[in-house]
Amino acid sequence: MICLGIESTAHTIGVGIVSKKNVLVNLREAYTTESGGIIPMDAANHHKDVKDDLIKRAIEEFEKLGKGKIDLVSYSRGPGIGPCLQVGKNTAAELAKSLDVPFIGINHCVSHLSVGSLVTPVKDPVMLYASGANTQVIAYEGGKYRVFGETLDQGIGNFLDSFARHVGLGFPGGPKIEKLAKDYTGDYIELPYSVKGMDISLSGLLTNLKNKHDSEKFTLEGLSYSLQETAFAMLIEVAERAMAHCDKNELLLGGGVACNARLQEMAGKMCKERGAKCFVPQKSLLIDNGAMIAYQGILEYESGTREKKVDIRPYERTDDVLVNWKN
Ligand code: ATP
Ligand code: FE2
Repeated sequence: MICLGIESTAHTIGVGIVSKKNVLVNLREAYTTESGGIIPMDAANHHKDVKDDLIKRAIEEFEKLGKGKIDLVSYSRGPGIGPCLQVGKNTAAELAKSLDVPFIGINHCVSHLSVGSLVTPVKDPVMLYASGANTQVIAYEGGKYRVFGETLDQGIGNFLDSFARHVGLGFPGGPKIEKLAKDYTGDYIELPYSVKGMDISLSGLLTNLKNKHDSEKFTLEGLSYSLQETAFAMLIEVAERAMAHCDKNELLLGGGVACNARLQEMAGKMCKERGAKCFVPQKSLLIDNGAMIAYQGILEYESGTREKKVDIRPYERTDDVLVNWKN
């Protein structure tokens, strides 16, 4: 079975085409701003403007591979920004009609996790899902992806982007902070660390960082470095606690912030110390992308899911999803 998946929950519109075993095509276009955050209608209009060309290019690339025909179309139904989700859903509906194939809606967060098993040998991991809006430690138990720990206020990516915006770095901020942190050789700047059980909190850290920046007593490089060391240590601590609690010896990283080399290094080190394995999919599958939506489409369609009502679900949580594609 071959599925074309459309991702459009937020800043990125992605079109991916995958088989059960391989990513065949994975194209994306991202809405970015030099300053400020995402304006929902602007992002949706961006997606509308580029969608036809993106689908055309994806299908052309796919046809060159000579792998047969597309059997299914899937789209992100949520969670995400309403107007952006609507563009993906409408595009998927039109495309499915023109290809004369079925289409199904997919939970974006679950797709970030599932795609790890397409490209790595991971079996039964604890997943650290670190993206823009979401920061969760998840494991599969009792027929569901259960959220064992999460952020109590904001997602790690949104936290990075907020700090970046405050200091004038533009969006997305994560990669810019990573770059600034990388070459810093000075001392760690003391910052508040907030872990509560398996949950974390980032808003106090954000306020502290903004105040430190505004005091003009610290360099941006030093703050970026110390921010990463603090926030990522919090993520790794809760991931490790969940691994011990669930008695699992695999960690899978997912979400855009998992592109960060320092976070990957810290996750790898923690796993090594525990005698566990750490799996990290390639960057193009960590950030928002259509291939993960397509792969999740295949998993669910082959397990019998059929679209009854075409919809978007802007607030659907990871643990709301009934997992019918495992075992
Ligand atoms: P969600 O899955 O919560 O809807 P999202 O749709 O916002 O998240 P993703 O593409 O999964 O998007 O993640 C985007 C986030 O990843 C942004 O906040 C961005 O700053 C962050 N990010 C991307 N690359 C890096 C990096 N190298 N280091 C740190 N953060 C990064
Ligand atoms: Fe995402």
